[in-house]
Amino acid sequence: MTHTKPVNVGLLGIGTVGGGAYTVLARNAAEIARRAGRPILITRVADRNLELARAVTGNAATVTLTDDAFAVVRAPEIDVVVELIGGYGVARELVLEAIKNGKHVVTANKALLAVHGNEIFAAAQEKGVTVAFEAAVAGGIPIIKALREGLSANHIEWAAGIINGTTNFILSEMRDKGLPFAQVLKEAQRLGYAEADPTFDIEGIDAAHKVTLIAAIAFGIPIQFDKAYVEGITRLEAADIQYAGQLGYRIKLLGIARRRAHGVELRVHPTLVPEKRLLANVEGAMNAVLVKADAVGATLYYGKGAGAEPTASAVIADLVDVARASAIAPSLRVPHLAFQPDQLRSDLPILPIDEAETAFYLRLVVEDKLGVLADVTRILADEGLSIDALLQREPEEGEGKTDIIILTHVCQEKQANAAIARIEKLAAVTEKVTRLRLESLQ
Ligand code: HSE
Repeated sequence: MTHTKPVNVGLLGIGTVGGGAYTVLARNAAEIARRAGRPILITRVADRNLELARAVTGNAATVTLTDDAFAVVRAPEIDVVVELIGGYGVARELVLEAIKNGKHVVTANKALLAVHGNEIFAAAQEKGVTVAFEAAVAGGIPIIKALREGLSANHIEWAAGIINGTTNFILSEMRDKGLPFAQVLKEAQRLGYAEADPTFDIEGIDAAHKVTLIAAIAFGIPIQFDKAYVEGITRLEAADIQYAGQLGYRIKLLGIARRRAHGVELRVHPTLVPEKRLLANVEGAMNAVLVKADAVGATLYYGKGAGAEPTASAVIADLVDVARASAIAPSLRVPHLAFQPDQLRSDLPILPIDEAETAFYLRLVVEDKLGVLADVTRILADEGLSIDALLQREPEEGEGKTDIIILTHVCQEKQANAAIARIEKLAAVTEKVTRLRLESLQ
C-alpha cells in the first residue's frame, strides 16, 4: 500500500449508527484498508453515555473515550470527524469547529445540512476540507454518489423518492390492514419503527430535508429547505388508500425534485403512484429513489434507508472517499454539491407550490341528488381541469350521501385550488374536498 499512515477518526455519538460504524469498521478493517489504501481507525469517541461507549468499544486500548465532543474535534491527531449527534444546535457548532481545525467531516445529519449546508460547505471550501454526507439521504443507498458522480454526464430532469422509512411502514400497514393512521402509528412506535416524538417523520420534514439535498446536487442549486413544500401523512384517511387501490394506485409519501424551464419544484406530500411502477411496490421501512435523466433514462435505487449497519455502510464509504481524496488538491476533489461551487445556479428558483404541475385525486362527499355530478364536472371544465377517471360509491339504502372520486390529468396546482374552492361552495357538497396529488412517474 502506498500510504501506511492510518486515517484517524474521531466519532461523535456512538448510538445506533455510531455503534454500527464501529462494528463494521472492525469487522471489515482489512478489506476497507485495501480499498482506501490505508487503515481507517476510530481513535477517539465522544458520547454523553460513557458506559455505552465502553460497552461498544469493548474498552479497547486504541480508543480514547470522552464526554467532551469539542475535545475530539480539536484533537491534533484526528484527521476526520464523524458527526452522528444529529439536530441543528451543537452539531452545527461541532462541525464548524472541526472544519476550523482542518478536519474533514463525515455526517449523517440531513437536518443540519438542509438548514445550514450552504454555510457549512462554504466553510469547508474555504479551509480545503471535505464534508461528506452519503448517510444523510436514504441511509445505506448510495444515492448521493450516484447523483453526484455516476450520473454526471446527464441533464437530470427529476427525482422522486420514498426517503422516509417510518412513513412508508405506516402507509404499507394502513393499506394492508385497512387501519387508520393513529392506530398504525401507535403500533409503529411499539415496534420501534417510529420514535416517541415522530413529528419529523410523519409531518414530512425528514423527507423534505433529504429531497432538498437531492435537488441541490441534481440541479446544481443552493440548498433551500425553507422553500420546500411539506405535507405529511397525518391527515391521510384509510378510505383514500382504499379508493386509490380500486383505481390502480398506491399512496406513497414522495419527495419530489423536478426541474422546470424557469425553476424547480421541491415538494413532499402523500402521492398516488400507479401500482405497476416499481416505486409503488416499495413496502415497509424500505427506501427507493427514482431518477430521470436525459441520457441514461430512468434509474432506480432501492435499499435500507435507516438502521445501524446500513447507515454505517454509507458513513464508512465516505471515510474511504475522504482517505483517498485527502491526497488530492481541494480544487480537484468531487465538489460537495456535484457542481463547482461557483457554478451553482441562482437563476433557477424553487417554484411556489401554486405553480407545481401535477395530477390530482379529489374525493367529494356529496348529497346523492340529480345534477350534482354535472355541476362538479362543469366547474372542472371551466377551470381547465380534464378528468382522467371517475368513481362513485354506490350509496347504502337511504343513506342519501355518497363519495365521488375524480382523477384529473396534469394541471397547475392553482387551477385545482380554484376548482376546489368553487366545488366546496356547492350546496350538495357537504364536506371539504379531500385532495391528493398524483404522479404517473413516466
Ligand atoms: N427517520 C428516518 C426514516 C431514518 O424513518 O427513514 C433516518 O433518516
